[in-house]
Amino acid sequence: MLKVVVLISGTGSNLRALLDEASAPDFPAQVIAVGADREAAGFGHAEAYGIPTFLVPWEQFDSREAWGEELAAQLDVWQPDLVVLSGLMRLLPAGLVDRWAPHIINTHPAYLPEFPGAHGVRDALAAGAAQTGASVIVVDNGVDSGPILAQERVPVLDGDDENRLHERIKPVERRLLIDVVRRVATGDLDLAAASTSL
Ligand code: GAR
Repeated sequence: MLKVVVLISGTGSNLRALLDEASAPDFPAQVIAVGADREAAGFGHAEAYGIPTFLVPWEQFDSREAWGEELAAQLDVWQPDLVVLSGLMRLLPAGLVDRWAPHIINTHPAYLPEFPGAHGVRDALAAGAAQTGASVIVVDNGVDSGPILAQERVPVLDGDDENRLHERIKPVERRLLIDVVRRVATGDLDLAAASTSL
């Protein structure tokens, strides 16, 4: 059984989908803890499943590196096989990425390398894109620049605003994320090999 720690910042709707899926007896991965950089509403989903949570509050640290050291200490407690960034709205310091790569993956609401960063949906709309998408990547030390594991297009429709478009992207993200976690767990997807060959 693949042990997964999920890191979030917000509502955690994608986390919820993963937890729902992982509650099926034949799902080959288990979420063992959920962490966040703030008091995230998504903790409620972890609590609903009786899964432990941990908080590493960003504002209580003087630097990204200091915050990352505490986050790394938490990950060392849990010893996951895979770390999933599911809406964690912070860049991880290089030391933490180097320690865990390639076993850290991230979901992103755009068709990378298009529209990386914290406002992928907003940026696609601002660019007048006819289509955007969802991606699951291996985390590296760039901004959403790691090897792409899965991605799918989502059309931009007339009248879309950021919220409406994002809510249409998220179900695609969830499907891709769950599929990637399943494939990592079954060994169909080797993150080390994917990181060198993609
Ligand atoms: C998701 O769309 C995720 O891809 C995005 O935040 C949302 C979290 O939603 N992450 C990023 O934009 C990271 N650059 P959720 O909290 O409802 O799962």
